[in-house]
Amino acid sequence: MTGVASPELVAAVSDAGGLGILGAAIMKPEKVRESIRQIKQETDRPFGVNLIPGSPDIEKTMDILIEEGVRVASFGVGKPDYVIQRAKPAGILSIPTVGSVKHALKAQMDGADAVIVQGAEAGGHSSMVGTMVLVPSVVDKLDIPVIAAGGFCDARGLIAALSLGAEGISMGTRFILTRESTVSQKVKEKYLEAEEKDTVVTAYITGTACRVLSNRLAVELESVKNAIDHTRESLQAGVEKITGAFRKDDPEMVPLVSGQVIGRIKDMPSCRELIESIVNDAEKVLNRIQHIVAVKQPDMARY
Ligand SMILES: Cc1cc2nc3c(=O)[nH]c(=O)nc-3n(C[C@H](O)[C@H](O)[C@H](O)COP(=O)(O)O)c2cc1C
Repeated sequence: MTGVASPELVAAVSDAGGLGILGAAIMKPEKVRESIRQIKQETDRPFGVNLIPGSPDIEKTMDILIEEGVRVASFGVGKPDYVIQRAKPAGILSIPTVGSVKHALKAQMDGADAVIVQGAEAGGHSSMVGTMVLVPSVVDKLDIPVIAAGGFCDARGLIAALSLGAEGISMGTRFILTRESTVSQKVKEKYLEAEEKDTVVTAYITGTACRVLSNRLAVELESVKNAIDHTRESLQAGVEKITGAFRKDDPEMVPLVSGQVIGRIKDMPSCRELIESIVNDAEKVLNRIQHIVAVKQPDMARY
């Protein structure tokens, strides 16, 4: 998550047993190296780095990932072939985020080690198709592991994703509201107030459909109805605005990327509390499901 997944947050997530992923989309290569080193000082657990494959600095950034022994390369927009080709011989796992069956199949063909399948409710460049339909559709077509994203914040979501055939979940929006998140207090308050209906999808920020909080900027951009600029420059400029937004004290005139799940997030746990509560609650959710299945079985036998 550009602007949110700082070295502090990444280290806290990995240290708590998750896989933290550094938001390096528009970071200059030397800043990527500095951030990786900071993470390594704070945790000895594996972590990943999120990149834009088409960025002008990509070759240098990949050199740095290899030199620094990063374990996972993640990327959302742009063609992944180059990154995968550089990552594979170095033993770096490539995990692209995809929003359709077609792109998932392409990622597998290009050599991806797993895919994050991100449904329409997710924050950022989301799909046209909801997580509930997209995840099993991709699972049915792929041989590599699938990680579900879009709408997850708790154990109920985790068990739902596993039921759909995913191997795990990837959460974005949930981590904005954690104690280790370095987002400004005013911005955190704006996210805390939001309900599940308070996001919109707009292409006016990056040139590609992107889910953001429905603040004044989002409403004004949509009302103007200018032509949408799909160029690489527009993507870069939009991502830069998103990255800067989280440091600002005015949460109204900046693009605040958010998933619909924000409406379910009303607390500010540490990353360890969050991850441990998801793992612990998963057992309770499973027990409940097993109970329902056990009760229903005698009834089913009648049919
Ligand atoms: C603030 C924010 C910034 C994001 N930035 C990126 C990014 O730079 N690169 C990327 O691949 N995905 C990005 N995403 C998408 C997330 O990595 C993740 O897949 C998504 O948030 C999952 O859906 P959720 O928000 O419902 O948890 C971003 C999401 C958010 C909320």
